[in-house]
Amino acid sequence: MKLKRLSAALLAASLLPATVMAGNVEVLHWWTSGGEAKSALELKKMMTAKGHTWRDFAVAGGGGDNAMTALKTRVVSGNPPTAAQIKGPAIQEWGAEGVLANIDPVAKAGNWDKLLPPVVSQVMKYKGQYVAAPVNVHRVNWLWVNPEAFKKAGATVPKTWPEFFAAADKLQKAGIQPVAHGGQPWQDATLFESVALGVGGAGYYKKAFVQLDQATLAGPTTIKVFETLQRVKGYIDKGAAGRDWNLATNMVITGKAGMQFMGDWAKGEFTAASKQPGKDYLCVDAPGTAGMFTFNIDSLAMFQQKDPASVKAQADLAATVMSPAFQETFNLNKGSIPARLDTPMDKFDDCAKKSKTDLTTASKSGALVPSFAHKMAMPSATEGAMVDVIAQFMNSSMTPKTAAERLAKAGKVK
Ligand code: GAL
Repeated sequence: MKLKRLSAALLAASLLPATVMAGNVEVLHWWTSGGEAKSALELKKMMTAKGHTWRDFAVAGGGGDNAMTALKTRVVSGNPPTAAQIKGPAIQEWGAEGVLANIDPVAKAGNWDKLLPPVVSQVMKYKGQYVAAPVNVHRVNWLWVNPEAFKKAGATVPKTWPEFFAAADKLQKAGIQPVAHGGQPWQDATLFESVALGVGGAGYYKKAFVQLDQATLAGPTTIKVFETLQRVKGYIDKGAAGRDWNLATNMVITGKAGMQFMGDWAKGEFTAASKQPGKDYLCVDAPGTAGMFTFNIDSLAMFQQKDPASVKAQADLAATVMSPAFQETFNLNKGSIPARLDTPMDKFDDCAKKSKTDLTTASKSGALVPSFAHKMAMPSATEGAMVDVIAQFMNSSMTPKTAAERLAKAGKVK
């Protein structure tokens, strides 16, 4: 009997493709909301279907600050996960620590250089070699709108800041919360950067948040950005303190609120609630940001593994993430668009199609900018200092002028 079972197991193993050696894959991420968890599950399904054992290392907390703290502890103790959702310049910081794995052979075999836009592939490499696999491209400068609430209030969907405040007043008069927001530092920064792009434009945004130009950071446009943010603050409810972003999205889904400033992971929540874009909700450019695109690329950075089976499983993980099937299914759930340019878009909705068009247009016109609230634009220490200033501004009576001065100071933190 035992022998029979053993030979059945051997037969099953021999049927696996020769290149596959089953191993453990542990992936650190913070995809815990409804739409996000569904997306992460797709990766688990694909990896387990290939015979690997999936260990979910999910650390709740939007924007990933808690996850990054957990990651540091694990790496310092010499026990890194197979991969972790790490983004932008932080990939370089981890690369410099000497703990990331070189996945160039997988990337070469899969032709990644040809399949990825340079804005994505650059971020995935450390010293010219791939150390991370891109999952998607999120657009951050969206405004999510409940059209039913707007209809009730007799409000018009805004394109400019004056139109935004006119709509917010109408919603308020109709007893609908104009802006759904969660008072967490990363959400404050998400709102701030859309205001900054809308008020200052892409040129200002790049000077301030990519080049960290002191005069620009402390200058009149930044003061105007904070003044605008102060007005937006007036349309956020008192209950926002500490609220998770997906609960804020839910306020728009249910019509308790009219609008939310949030990246398109919010669409994952609408999708998980079976809501249709263009009918139940609208995705529009944050005021004043038509044709501009704040990008946020999710990526799994790979950590060096000792055990050969884990090394193989890691290579398989990297290849799976870049596979057409994964890029399609994951992003249909997540609200983002595929990082691979050749992924067919026919199953994607109009918001995703708009995102892809805007990405192309913005990259040609110079209006494609990295999201600093989502760790894409500046060193982690600088980002942390800036986000603190914005959160303090949101939670105090700090003047726009003082806030701009403090933001400039934060821009010097390295
Ligand atoms: C972003 C991340 C998204 C989404 C969001 C909310 O930083 O890139 O994938 O998870 O946080 O948690």
